[in-house]
Parts: sequence; structure tokens; C-alpha cells
Amino acid sequence: MSVVLEVQSLTKGFTMHHLNSYLAAFSDVSFDLNAGEFLLLKGHNGAGKSTLLRTLYRTYLAQSGQALFHSQHGVIDLLRAADVDLALLRRSEIGFVTQFLVARPRVSAEALVAEPLRRAAWDTASAQQEARHWLQAFGVKQSLWRAYPTTFSGGEQQKVNLARALILPQKLLLLDEPTASLDAGARAALVARLAELKSNGTAMIGVFHHPDDVAHLIDRVIDLTPEAQQNKEVPDVVV
Ligand SMILES: Nc1ncnc2c1ncn2[C@@H]1O[C@H](COP(=O)(O)OP(=O)(O)OP(=O)(O)O)[C@@H](O)[C@H]1O
Ligand SMILES: [Mg+2]
Repeated sequence: MSVVLEVQSLTKGFTMHHLNSYLAAFSDVSFDLNAGEFLLLKGHNGAGKSTLLRTLYRTYLAQSGQALFHSQHGVIDLLRAADVDLALLRRSEIGFVTQFLVARPRVSAEALVAEPLRRAAWDTASAQQEARHWLQAFGVKQSLWRAYPTTFSGGEQQKVNLARALILPQKLLLLDEPTASLDAGARAALVARLAELKSNGTAMIGVFHHPDDVAHLIDRVIDLTPEAQQNKEVPDVVV
């Protein structure tokens, strides 16, 4: 199977200037991820799960290490890529799903969901049709499709967020507790979509509040709690 991501000795911490101290989030994390593989990150609150995803997405800068991403344009170290290259990858190859929708004033739900397709040069009518399909699949009621998500409930915003984030298959998908605030129907739709993307080759790294939801998708687990990290010579758990 083709490798998508090679992470070597990834270390991230935060310098707390006001405390004149350094807080280690995680250190020396290494793993490889192949196409279609699903890696679950686990660990208690504050173990560094979100920070690891943000470091790979380059929202945060790493202290040291390498994250070699095998993009369609060649191998690129996500930790050192130029901002412009990273912006391109985020548009076309690397997705990040959080619990939060970034709604924009006066942009309708269906326009927001269709946006990744429009950027990928889909025509307006097909993009709109596909956006509606995914809004429907995640259980956003039809009366809201043309409304502005800024006023939606938390769960409704999250459904729009998922439809937008998962509408286009990506090579690598980073998922930070995407099921938080979802009802059972939307959770099932999300898991079905993740299974479909996985079988089409998307590699995923995810944090799930209820990992049972995705148990059948998980190939490997990395535990970021410090005790587990100290015993790293033990191979990753295979479930
Ligand atoms: N921007 C930041 N500046 C300083 N410290 C930060 C920053 N972001 C995260 N941290 C710290 O890094 C540690 C790891 O945080 P992180 O959000 O990655 O935890 P998590 O495993 O995702 O926890 P949770 O299960 O609560 O979501 C925490 O102690 C947190 O306070
Ligand atoms: Mg987190």
C-alpha cells in the first residue's frame, strides 16, 4: 500500500513567556500512515491530541522532527513547506475537520458546502446539487439550505461543517472530535462517509470522544499519555 505520511521524531511544546517556562505537548512521536489507513489518537485531556493534528496541519510550528507528506506533486515536509505550498495542499489534499464551523456572514449553508467543489472548478449547478446531497445526508433540514449558518444551532453548524469538510475526497484527513454535538443520525452519516473515504484511499488521523463509533475503521492507535509514550518500544496496538 502506498505511504501517505511519514512522521519522524515529532516534538512540540509551548514556550510560556509569562511563566518563563516550556510546556512539552508531546515529544519524539513517529509513525507511518498508508493510503486508506485510519490512525486513532488517544490520551487524556491535555495529552496533546489536538496539538498533534494542528502541528501536522501547520497551524502550530513544531520544535523538531519531520512530517513527509507524499503529495501528488512529490514528497514535501509539512513542517517546513512554504506557506504558499501548504495553502495549496490544504485546498486539495489535506482536510481538517474540527468541531467548529467557520460560518461567514451572508453565505448560505449550501454555498458554504459547495465552495470546495467550486474551487475544484465544478460548475455551479453540479456543485449545488452535490452540496444539497451532503446537507441532506448529514440531516440538515431543507428549509435551512439557503439560510445563513451564523444563526444555526451548534449541532446544525457542525453538520454543515462536516458536509463541507467531507464533500471532496482528500488524500489525508485530520479529524478532531468531529462527532461532538452530533445526534445519532448525523453520527451514523459521518461514520458511513469516513468508511467510504477510507475505502477510496483517504488516510485519516482522528481523535474521537467515543471511539466505539469508529472501532471498525481503526487500523492503529497511538496513545499520547506520557506513561504510554515512555513505553514506546512496545509496538502500536493493532485492534
Ligand atoms: N496555543 C497554546 N499555547 C500554550 N499551550 C497550549 C496551546 N495549545 C495547547 N496547549 C497546551 O498543550 C497541551 C495539549 O493540549 P491539546 O489541546 O493538544 O490536548 P488534547 O489532548 O487535545 O486535550 P482534549 O482531550 O481536552 O481536547 C495542554 O496542556 C494545553 O494547555
Ligand atoms: Mg483536543
